[in-house]
Amino acid sequence: MFFKRKRRKEDNNNPTTKILPSSRVSKDSIIGKYCYVGERCDITKAEIGNYVSIANNVSIGPGEHSLTKISTNSLFYEAPYLNLTHGHCKIQSDAWIGVDSIIRRGVIVGIGAVVGANSFVNSDVPDFAIVAGSPARVIGYRFNEACQQMILESKWWNMDLDEAKKTMTALSDAISKLS
Ligand SMILES: CC(C)(COP(=O)(O)OP(=O)(O)OC[C@H]1O[C@@H](n2cnc3c(N)ncnc32)[C@H](O)[C@@H]1OP(=O)(O)O)[C@@H](O)C(=O)NCCC(=O)NCCS
Repeated sequence: MFFKRKRRKEDNNNPTTKILPSSRVSKDSIIGKYCYVGERCDITKAEIGNYVSIANNVSIGPGEHSLTKISTNSLFYEAPYLNLTHGHCKIQSDAWIGVDSIIRRGVIVGIGAVVGANSFVNSDVPDFAIVAGSPARVIGYRFNEACQQMILESKWWNMDLDEAKKTMTALSDAISKLS
């Protein structure tokens, strides 16, 4: 029998953000405008900014079982969801999370940061950093400090798309004059 997928609530409330149907976003997560979430992602207790791009097979804030209780099995927890998932992740605006990555619970990924494919991110990622590997390490920065400052001051990610495009053109001009 063929079932048509029901439109989800977030599709209606946030039409600029696209979450592919095989992905799951927990009810206690918040996701901003102009985001893209690929296939088979699992997002738990996360606050996601605007213009964030999340590739396929990304897990954000997956639960973790206790290492010190006699059993690791959550059947022995009184409030398994709360115990396993304590600590919110924050994925700030314009971050790009590469395919097959895991962002550990409680981790903050900064504005404009990039997480390379297949990474395990277990510590906070600074704004505009590029991190990769398991565990993820900083392999570079997208911009030098002067450019980072200019971009941060613009706060373009809080703008609607048309205004953001105009601001980016102005920023590119200003940055090209810096070098
Ligand atoms: C992170 C990424 C953007 C970096 O690109 P880049 O700046 O051009 O990096 P380079 O290829 O110059 O690599 C720099 C170093 O980091 C390493 N590196 C890059 N990506 C890596 C990754 N995902 N995991 C581990 N190491 C990685 C390279 O091996 C290289 O190491 P070396 O200096 O020892 O040789 C890119 O490698 C990546 O992972 N892209 C994600 C693609 C994706 O998931 N797309 C989904 C569709 S939206």
